[in-house]
Amino acid sequence: MSQETQKQAVAREALRYVVDDAWIGVGSGSTANLFIDALATIRHRIKGGVASSVKTAERMKSHGIPVEELNDAGDLAVYIDGADEVTRAGAMIKGGGGALTREKIVAAASRKFVCIVDASKVVDVLGRFPLPVEVIPMARSYVARELVRLGGQPAWRQGFVTDNGNLILDVAGLAIADPVALEATIDGIAGVVTVGLFARRGADVVLVGSERGVETIAARR
Ligand code: A5P
Repeated sequence: MSQETQKQAVAREALRYVVDDAWIGVGSGSTANLFIDALATIRHRIKGGVASSVKTAERMKSHGIPVEELNDAGDLAVYIDGADEVTRAGAMIKGGGGALTREKIVAAASRKFVCIVDASKVVDVLGRFPLPVEVIPMARSYVARELVRLGGQPAWRQGFVTDNGNLILDVAGLAIADPVALEATIDGIAGVVTVGLFARRGADVVLVGSERGVETIAARR
C-alpha cells in the first residue's frame, strides 16, 4: 500500500469516530484533507465542522460541509487530525503545515482526539521531525536563543506567516525523551504562542495505515 493509500484508509476509518448530529473538530494537512473528503460523503449526518485552519474551512465549504466558529459550537465530541510524528502513547509533533495553534485549541476543546497517520509517522522518540514553534514576530530572535539554550537548532520558516499573523521556528536536534515536560518548558518562554508538541493533551486513539491495513492504537488508558 502506498503512503497515499494508507492515508486514504485511515481517513475513511476515522469516519467511525464521527458523532451524529454534532459539530466535528477537523484538522489540517494532507491526511486531514482526505478525511474532509470522506466526511463529505456523510455530511447529512453531522451539523458540520469546526476548522483548525483557514484552508480546512475552505475545503469543508467547497464540499458543502457547514463550518462553525469554535466560540459558537462549544465543546466538541471529537477532533480528527494528522500528525508529523506520533508515539504509541499518543504524544505528537504537529505544525508541519503551520496550523499548530488553532489545532491545539480545537484539540483542547474536544473530548476525544483521533490521530490519523501513515506508518512512517510512528516513532519511539519524538524529535527527528523539526519541532515547529509559533512565535510573536518581535520575539523571534529571543525565542530562538532560548531554544538554542535547550539544545535545539531553530530555523526561521522563510516566507511563512500563520493564520494568526505570527512566525514559525522549526527546531531540529531535539531528542524529546519527556514530551510533557518539554511542552511546558517551551510554552513558558515569553513570546511563544504555541509549541507543536501535543503531549499534555495527546491523542486518545491513533489510526495507523500500513501495508497490513489500519491498526487502531488506544493511546491513553
Ligand atoms: C498541520 O499544521 C499539521 O499539524 C499537520 O497535522 C501535520 O503536519 C500532518 O500533515 P500531513 O497529514 O500533511 O502529513
